[in-house]
Amino acid sequence: MDVNQIKRILVVGAGNMGHQISLACALAGFKTNCCDSSKTQLKKAEAFVQSYLPGRVAKGKLTEEAAKAAAKNLRFYSNLEEAAAEADFVIEAVTEKLDLKREVFKQLDRLCPKHAILATNSSFFVSSLLARVTERPGQVCNMHFFNPALVMKCVEVVQGPHTSAETAAAAMALAKKLGKVPVLLHKEIYGFLVNRILARITEEALFLLDTGVASAEDIDSAVVNALGHPMGPFRLMDLTGIDLSYHISMERYRRTGDPKDKPSPTVVEKYVKGEWGRKTGRGFYRYDDDK
Ligand code: 3HC
Repeated sequence: MDVNQIKRILVVGAGNMGHQISLACALAGFKTNCCDSSKTQLKKAEAFVQSYLPGRVAKGKLTEEAAKAAAKNLRFYSNLEEAAAEADFVIEAVTEKLDLKREVFKQLDRLCPKHAILATNSSFFVSSLLARVTERPGQVCNMHFFNPALVMKCVEVVQGPHTSAETAAAAMALAKKLGKVPVLLHKEIYGFLVNRILARITEEALFLLDTGVASAEDIDSAVVNALGHPMGPFRLMDLTGIDLSYHISMERYRRTGDPKDKPSPTVVEKYVKGEWGRKTGRGFYRYDDDK
């Protein structure tokens, strides 16, 4: 499909990533449907949009017309059948559970127009795990955004063995239209590019914390002030979600069986306690009003 044929985008999942990906699409001029089965999640996403757009206008980053147009482009749905009916391109951003993603892809394959491309924003599941439940494997790929999706420029497009060159090209071109700087992976690999690199940094930071070498605050401070990263690994885990870090490590451990791939004791403890970072108000740091 040529990128110019993409008029309506469906984002499935209004959580941490989905609501910002939806808004990025709407701001870029696409008719965007954001669908989530949770009414609470949809309400949160709508509230974010209602405060974000006027905030950008007040900050002089967006004209009032552009904010109005974006708000008009974006619609929220709890019913996937309605949301999917006219989609040209789908970005799935539901919870990182393979069975759930497979079920969503099965439904999307049934409900979306035949020409629609189905992309997954998964942080680690390669799209060949999902393509096989559809009758359009050539139109399935990974399109991985970074948190916060409205800000981070990189998008990883992964061309699996089943993905047609045309689909990969459309996903790359769409990312560019969203104002992103996409990179293309020619083969599937666990963790893609960025999370493989980030995992090494995070793993080392957790080792230093778990062995009592330094506090989370000091490790973060060193990474910011010595390496020039915008935030340290602990603040970043709080942003992306400690639940996600847990699932990423568990998935790697399930694949390799290597005990060193298990989540670190600190991550397990925080996961079990429900201290998942910003989204729960507490992780390695405490948060009031999402700050
Ligand atoms: N949502 C939307 N916009 C946000 C935001 C959020 N949660 N947080 C910050 N911003 C915007 C601000 O509005 C501001 O925009 P402006 O400059 O156009 O006005 C801009 O970002 C800078 O914000 P601040 O001045 O408040 O704060 P910082 O300069 O500290 O930037 C940050 C915040 C952009 C989050 C920066 O700290 C950063 O880049 N951190 C690293 C993030 C990162 O590494 N992300 C990748 C994570 S890995 C991942 O997502 C993969 C997944 O699979 C796990």
